[in-house]
Amino acid sequence: MPKDPQPELLCGPRHVAIIMDGNGRWAQARGRPRLFGHHAGARRVREIVEACPRLRIKYLTVFAFSTENWKRTQVEVAGLMSLFRRYIIKETRTLAENGVRVRFIGDRVRLDTKLTELMDALEQETKNNDLVHLTVALNYGGRDEVARATKRLARDVAEGRLKPDEVDEETLPKYLDTRVLPDPDLVVRTSGEARISNFLLWQSAYSEYEFINTLWPDFTAAELERLCRNFGSRERRFGAVLA
Ligand code: FPP
Repeated sequence: MPKDPQPELLCGPRHVAIIMDGNGRWAQARGRPRLFGHHAGARRVREIVEACPRLRIKYLTVFAFSTENWKRTQVEVAGLMSLFRRYIIKETRTLAENGVRVRFIGDRVRLDTKLTELMDALEQETKNNDLVHLTVALNYGGRDEVARATKRLARDVAEGRLKPDEVDEETLPKYLDTRVLPDPDLVVRTSGEARISNFLLWQSAYSEYEFINTLWPDFTAAELERLCRNFGSRERRFGAVLA
């Protein structure tokens, strides 16, 4: 029998989280405005989501807008917000019909109502899907998430629903935006920067990291597959020593 040139990925990462960086540089290299790069980046999200079932990735989390990104120019921020609205409108049907369950994490308070309504509707529309769980981090910051979680936890303590002694490593994650998600196995950052920039701080304590030079609009399913195979060949010890 001919040897399978691409053996099945049996021990790849179940949850991949991606810091999609490099859209601006990708556009600038082509003499185009930064938003041109963000649009190209949004198209890449679709290709990567589509590749997940084949790569046995059940959870994909992407960093679309950080709590720090408000510091960008008004034109870029408004352009990104408009891109998110249009993306949701355009992609809802495809996502819903292809088994993708979409969730958003981050603080919605600062987002405009038109956008949050679309986010709610997309979550609602896809809530029975289970093939791939796509989580979009929008106005997300890891420290902000932990602060908001702590506020809710403190309220539960103050109102007698939780005792201070019951607070431990199992309790706090139940208050995080990601409460229903497993921790990421692999965190990827594109564009050559080796920083985690406030992404999934609590959740990535034991994740593997891949910092790659590719700019996000050039990132392909083939490259993701390579990273998944790489992950499968590493030994994760979670602080223990394996016999
Ligand atoms: C970082 O590149 C990218 C962002 C701040 C925006 C990410 C958004 C997308 C990929 C598009 C939409 C996503 C979804 C889910 C619809 P950068 O602007 O910091 O690039 P640079 O470092 O080269 O300047």
